Amino acid sequence: MTLWHGRFSGQMDQAMADFTVSLPFDQALFAVDLQGSMAHVKGLAHVGLLSADEGAALLAALAAVRQEMEDGTFVFTESDEDIHTAVERRVTELAGPTGAKLHTGRSRNDQVATDLRLWSKVALTEIAEGVLHLCEVLAAQATAAGDAYLPGYTHVQRAQPVLLAHHLLAHGWSLRRDVDRILATLQRLDVSPLGAGALAGSSLPLDPDFVAAELGFAARFENSMDAVSDRDFVAEALFDLALIGIHLSRMGEEIVFWSSEEFAFCTVDDAFASGSSMLPQKKNADAAELARGKAGRLIGNLTGLLVTLKGLPLAYNRDLQEDKEPLFDSVRQVGLAVAAMAGTYATLSFHATTMAAAADAGAIAAIDLAEFLVVAGVPFREAHAIVATHVRRSIDEGVALAALVAEDPRLGPDAASLLAPGVAVTRRTTPGGAGPIPVATQLARFTAALAADWARLGQRP
Ligand code: ARG
Repeated sequence: MTLWHGRFSGQMDQAMADFTVSLPFDQALFAVDLQGSMAHVKGLAHVGLLSADEGAALLAALAAVRQEMEDGTFVFTESDEDIHTAVERRVTELAGPTGAKLHTGRSRNDQVATDLRLWSKVALTEIAEGVLHLCEVLAAQATAAGDAYLPGYTHVQRAQPVLLAHHLLAHGWSLRRDVDRILATLQRLDVSPLGAGALAGSSLPLDPDFVAAELGFAARFENSMDAVSDRDFVAEALFDLALIGIHLSRMGEEIVFWSSEEFAFCTVDDAFASGSSMLPQKKNADAAELARGKAGRLIGNLTGLLVTLKGLPLAYNRDLQEDKEPLFDSVRQVGLAVAAMAGTYATLSFHATTMAAAADAGAIAAIDLAEFLVVAGVPFREAHAIVATHVRRSIDEGVALAALVAEDPRLGPDAASLLAPGVAVTRRTTPGGAGPIPVATQLARFTAALAADWARLGQRP
């Protein structure tokens, strides 16, 4: 029998029950549901709606339920529609008639919104920690990379040489923005909906500020209808997670092609690769591929929730039950992906000689010749044309670019020396640029930014 059966004379059809039940997935909320109920009980006692004895009895029953849940001895029954009704049913069994007072002044609408915010605070904090850890791995690899350099690409065509450290830190900064975004999401979701009731608050003397403080929320709701129907925080979380997934997908794609025989810029450690069931020679970067592939479902989870929310009338509607599975799934998948990518990067070996050979080939330092002319007073567009003509001749006639440059009186041997292996990357001196001087500064700033983010998360730097 359900907790709300009084209004009904007929039984729920099995198809209805099968379709609407949320217990299989909202069980994940048990710890925060109990936390919310404990605060609610303290709130009721605080305003005199429960005697001290009743409050103590309910808190003891809630603690016993928590123990059963943790031990795996909690027995769910057919009538448990969701985690909230399961807990209330069991509390009533344990606490007797006092159990019937647990839901005073509360609805599952404010209860579930409170639960999901409490759950999200913990889950998103853990995701941010995981992403920061991945950033630290990138910083460590950037440090270890030293002066190693590789071609930087635009349009997947070799464009200019860049330090490997610079390339790795490019991913690092995007992940660091993800952490910043999660922190902003956490700040906005730090509002307690408890006390909003079904949608309008209560005639009872509830104290939403008291329970908000009890639960560690920064504030209580300002509007009870908004409190029970707002799932912006879930949408934001799903966006933050989808964007992390997109960043990881770009990194994964890069590892896949860098570790191919065609590139051979890096080797994935055996611990983060898998073999082929048929082809004995194969070693595949499967973690990187899945990091690329998971972005699809993460974007799907975000899109699905946005469509669920679109056009929903105020206030609570059962549609909102659809918020949980995508959130749980995205949190879980991103957590797993971030850990696997941290391991993949931590154990990745880079092949500096192969990278350097690719970065020293052809006319990749052509811009340095044009800038040599600019320094000598030649307008840039003219300098571009002069160098481009040499590049074309070098390709058409199969002559080394350096030889043509050395012969040209406008350029000469000094300019030709700019084409020597490893020279061009050292000349990228712009602050924030790809050469050793700015990258040293960047690495220090990145490391300091990570330490600041750990502090914002209230954790060790
Ligand atoms: N399982 C529901 C959910 O996840 C709990 C709230 C149910 N509220 C209601 N009025 N039926 O949204």
